[in-house]
Amino acid sequence: MRITTRLIVALVIAVTAVSGVATYLTVQQERNRLTTELEHRVWLLAEGLEESTGPLISGAPSKRLDRIIEKISAGKRVEGIAVFDNADRPVSVSKGLSGKLPPDPGSILKDLPDETGKGVFEEIASQPMYVFAMPVIVDDLRAGSVLIVSDTSYIDEHIAGIWRRNFLRILANALLISVITLLIVRWSIIGPIAQMSAWIKGIHKGKTDDLFKFPKKGIFEPISKEISNIVKSLAVARTQAEEEARVRRQAGSTWTAERLKVHVKDKLQDRKLIVVSNREPYMHVRSGRLIECISPASGLVTALDPILKACSGLWVAHGSGNADREAVDGKDMVRVPPENPQYVLKRIWLSQEEEEGYYYGLSNEGLWPLCHIAHTRPIFRIDDWARYQEVNLKFAKALDDEIEEGTYIFIQDYHFSILPRLIKQRHPGTKIALFWHIPWPNPEAFGICPWKREILHGMLGADLIGFHTQYHCNNFLETVDRTLECRTNWESFSTTRMGHSTIVKPFPISVDFSGRPPVAPGHGKDDLLRELGVRATMLGVGVDRLDYTKGIVERFRAVERFLEKNPEYRDVFTFVQIGAPSREHIKRYHDFVGEVVSEVDRINWKFQSADWKPIVFLKRHFSHAEIEPFYRNADLCMVTSLHDGMNLVAKEFIASRDDEKGALILSTFAGASRELRDAILVNPYDIEQMADSIKSALEMDPSEQSQRMRNMREVVRENNIYKWAADVITELTNIRGNP
Ligand code: F6P
Repeated sequence: MRITTRLIVALVIAVTAVSGVATYLTVQQERNRLTTELEHRVWLLAEGLEESTGPLISGAPSKRLDRIIEKISAGKRVEGIAVFDNADRPVSVSKGLSGKLPPDPGSILKDLPDETGKGVFEEIASQPMYVFAMPVIVDDLRAGSVLIVSDTSYIDEHIAGIWRRNFLRILANALLISVITLLIVRWSIIGPIAQMSAWIKGIHKGKTDDLFKFPKKGIFEPISKEISNIVKSLAVARTQAEEEARVRRQAGSTWTAERLKVHVKDKLQDRKLIVVSNREPYMHVRSGRLIECISPASGLVTALDPILKACSGLWVAHGSGNADREAVDGKDMVRVPPENPQYVLKRIWLSQEEEEGYYYGLSNEGLWPLCHIAHTRPIFRIDDWARYQEVNLKFAKALDDEIEEGTYIFIQDYHFSILPRLIKQRHPGTKIALFWHIPWPNPEAFGICPWKREILHGMLGADLIGFHTQYHCNNFLETVDRTLECRTNWESFSTTRMGHSTIVKPFPISVDFSGRPPVAPGHGKDDLLRELGVRATMLGVGVDRLDYTKGIVERFRAVERFLEKNPEYRDVFTFVQIGAPSREHIKRYHDFVGEVVSEVDRINWKFQSADWKPIVFLKRHFSHAEIEPFYRNADLCMVTSLHDGMNLVAKEFIASRDDEKGALILSTFAGASRELRDAILVNPYDIEQMADSIKSALEMDPSEQSQRMRNMREVVRENNIYKWAADVITELTNIRGNP
C-alpha cells in the first residue's frame, strides 16, 4: 500500500472511531432524555385522569367516563387509554386501544404502587409502546386503575436521525481528510522528494553547479544540507586525489594529506601526538537560539587543522566559544570537525581573570608587540606574568592525563613559552616541539622583557624550536646566547642548557594547496561587487585579522595615493578589505578599528561617486568558503604587514588561483616574502611605492602575470602544509635520548 493510502486509511479510521464513539454517547443521552420526558408526561396525564375518573368508576359503563378518556386519548403520542374497576375489569377503553390492549394488563395492574404507578416498554401489534398504569384512589380506597398506552416510535426515529446525520458528517470528514492529506503529501513530501532526487541525480552526473542548489525549504532541508556536506567533502577528496595522482605522475615528491598520514604513522610508531595551542580550531558560538560551530580567523588554525585531519591525534586548546561547554563530553572533549569528525579537541577552561592576564595581558600586550616591531609599546605587568605562569601550569596539568610513555607534544606559539619546561619536568620521556608563529626580534629588542630569562629557560625545555625563517632562528639563538648560560652550536643550530639540547630550525609554514573550498556559481567578480553595491571592473582584496601589525591603514593610504596619481582608475578599481575582529578587548586593538574605519570614511568621501567607492570595509568573521570567491576574482591581493612571521593569506591567495591570474603585492617584512619572490614586493611604510605597485599589478602584462603566478604556485604546491608538518615531525622523531 502506498504511503498516501496508508495515511488516509489510518486517518479515516481514527476519525471514524472518534466520531462513532461520540455519536454513540450522544444517542444514549438523547434516548435517556426522551424516555424520562415521556415517563414524566405520561405520569402527569395519569394524575389528571385519576382525579377526573375516580368518581365515575362504579363497575357500570359510563358515557361520561367514555367521553373523558376519548378526549384525553386524542392528545399527542397517546395511543389510547383504558379504565379498569377494582377487579381489573375494563370499564372504559378508548377507540385507539380497541384490539390493542396489552396482552396481559392484569400483570401490569397487579401490585400497583399507590403514588407512582408503574410503566413498561413493550411491543404491541409490532409497535413500540410505553404502557403506564396507575391506581385510582377514592376516599383512600382503590376504586380501579387507569392504563395509558403511548407510542414511542418517535424516540427510535429521532435516534435513527442522529445516526444518519453523523454518518453523513463522518463521510464528509473522511472525504475532506483524504483530499487534504493528498495535497499535503504532494506538496510537502512527494514534491520535495522529486526535487531532491533530481538534485542528487544532477550531482551524480557531475553537475557541480547543482551542489549549491540543494533544496532549501521543506522537511528535507536538514538532510539535503548533510548530503551537500558529504558531496562537498567528496568533491574536495576527488580534487585531492586528482592532485595526488597528478603529483605522483610529475615528480613523486610533493606532500599530500595521504602521504603525511603514512609518514606520521611510520614516524610515530604508535606513539601519541598531542598538539597544544591557545586558539582552538573549532569554536561553538551562540547565534540567536542556535549554536554554530565556526573556525576562527587564525593562520595557525588554517595550517594545523589539515594535519590533525590527516593523522588524527589530540588537540588541546582554550575553550573560548560562548557555547563551547555545551558541546563537550564529560572529559571536556569533542570530536571535530562537526560535519565529518576526524580528530579530538580537548578544551581547557580559563577564568576571566586568567584570560585577562595570560591572553590579553602578557601574550598580546606584552609578547606580541615585543616580537612584532610595529611601533606599539609592549606592556609588562607583574600580575599578567603571574596569570601567564598559572595558565601554562594549568595546561601542563591537563596534559598529565593524556601523556603516555614516549608521547610527542607539539606546542604552538608565544602563549606557551614556559610550557615545554613544565611538561619536561613532569614527563621527561616526552619529546616536545615548540613552534613560534610570530617573528623573533633581535636580542636588544627582546632584552627589554623583564622575564626574558624565565621565558627562554621555559622554551629551552623543548627538544625542537621552530620559526618561519632562518633570520628568526638566528635572532633567537643570539638572544639565548646573550641571556642565559648555555652552549650554542652555530653549526648544528642547537643550544644546550643544563645537559638538555634544543635544536632551532626554520620551518616555513604553509597552506593546504589542493583542498580549496568549492565556490558556488553566481560568485563572479560582478556578482561580488553588485552585492556590495559598487559598480567597478577591477577588484583588489585584503584579508586580515584587524591587527595593527597588518599594515591595513598603510594599504588604504596606498589605494588613496594610487587614485590621486591615476584618476582614470576612479570608478574602475575598488579595494575590498575583509577584517575579522580580533582582541578588541585590548585598547590598542579597539583604537585600531576606529582608525581603520575613519581612514575608510575619509578616503571614500574624497573619491566616491554615485555608485562607486574606492574601499569597501567588511568587518566581520568570514569563513574560508566565503573568502574563497574574493581570492578567485581579485585582480590583486595586498598583504602589507609591518612585520609578520609568515602570513598565510598570501599563500591562500596563490593556492586559490588555479586560473594563474591575479597579482600579489607582498610586504618584505612578512616571512612569506622569502619564498614568494614573484610577488610584487613592497615596503609597507613607503606609500608612494605601494601606490605604484597597485598600478603595476593592474597593468601587468597577462603573460607575465601568469608566469609569476605559476612560479609562486609551484613554490606553495611543493612547500605546502603537509611538507611543513612532515618536516617538523621528522625532525622531532629523529631526536634520540635527549634528557
Ligand atoms: O599566528 C599568530 C597568532 O597569534 C596565532 O597564535 C593565533 O592563532 C592567530 O595569530 C590569531 O590570533 P588570536 O588567536 O589571538 O585570535
